[in-house]
Amino acid sequence: MLFKKKSELEVLEEIVSSTVVDKETVLGKPLPRHVAIILDGNGRWAQQQGKPRVFGHQAGMFNVEHIAEVASGMNIEAMTLYAFSTENWKRAAEEVAFLMKLPIRFFDRFAPTLMRLNIKTKVLGNKEELPEGLQTAIRRIEQMTANNTGMKLMIALNYGAQDEIMGMVKKIANKVKEAELSLDDIDSKLIDDHLLTKGLPPVDLLIRTSGEQRISNFLLWQIAYAELYFTEIPWPAFKEGALLEAISQFQQRDRRFGGVKK
Ligand code: FPP
Repeated sequence: MLFKKKSELEVLEEIVSSTVVDKETVLGKPLPRHVAIILDGNGRWAQQQGKPRVFGHQAGMFNVEHIAEVASGMNIEAMTLYAFSTENWKRAAEEVAFLMKLPIRFFDRFAPTLMRLNIKTKVLGNKEELPEGLQTAIRRIEQMTANNTGMKLMIALNYGAQDEIMGMVKKIANKVKEAELSLDDIDSKLIDDHLLTKGLPPVDLLIRTSGEQRISNFLLWQIAYAELYFTEIPWPAFKEGALLEAISQFQQRDRRFGGVKK
């Protein structure tokens, strides 16, 4: 086996060591403009404590608030968080129902903080398939924060990158069919402009918590040159120190974007 699963002690050591990165040192170096995070491990974190999985989702929600506040304080330009995928509907009905209510509570609770921090929030994904109450809450928070000029906080809900790419292809194909565009107009900028992330910088750093090392249909186009960072820390335990550690690792990477170092 190539990768050994870490023991609980090793995970604990990782959590402890992740708090020793010096914030000022990290802030003194170039930061990623766009950080994307796959919020994984809520269920396992709760179960390890003998609690129901939904307890982990609730703790995960509080941590979204914490990490968004930390990232905004560091002047990160954009943060995209994967909270519910197009594949997550396969989960038990009670868990899905809980996950559909959670963002309503989150937007309600977090609205004053978003305004205080000048954070602009948007939801990425197929919103029409979400329950009516959640759609209303999304419209409310997007409208409320629309003129904020600070960090852009994107919450991916009922999001799947393959769906997003299909949507982009259909929109462009339709414009070509209607002669609004010609085939020669299609370039990477045009594709960027027909994705849900239009206007955001490409992802510089993609973090996945809780040990799995896969992308799970998240931002497939946008992560072309992202640095990937995997940590054993489950999402509810991924605090400021862990984010600083991830960014510090990012700052030590040699990014060549396909070129050769001079
Ligand atoms: C993955 O952990 C997590 C989810 C599918 C839900 C993520 C949701 C939140 C963090 C809270 C909601 C956030 C907002 C912004 C409203 P998992 O359940 O797959 O964990 P496991 O792999 O341990 O089972």
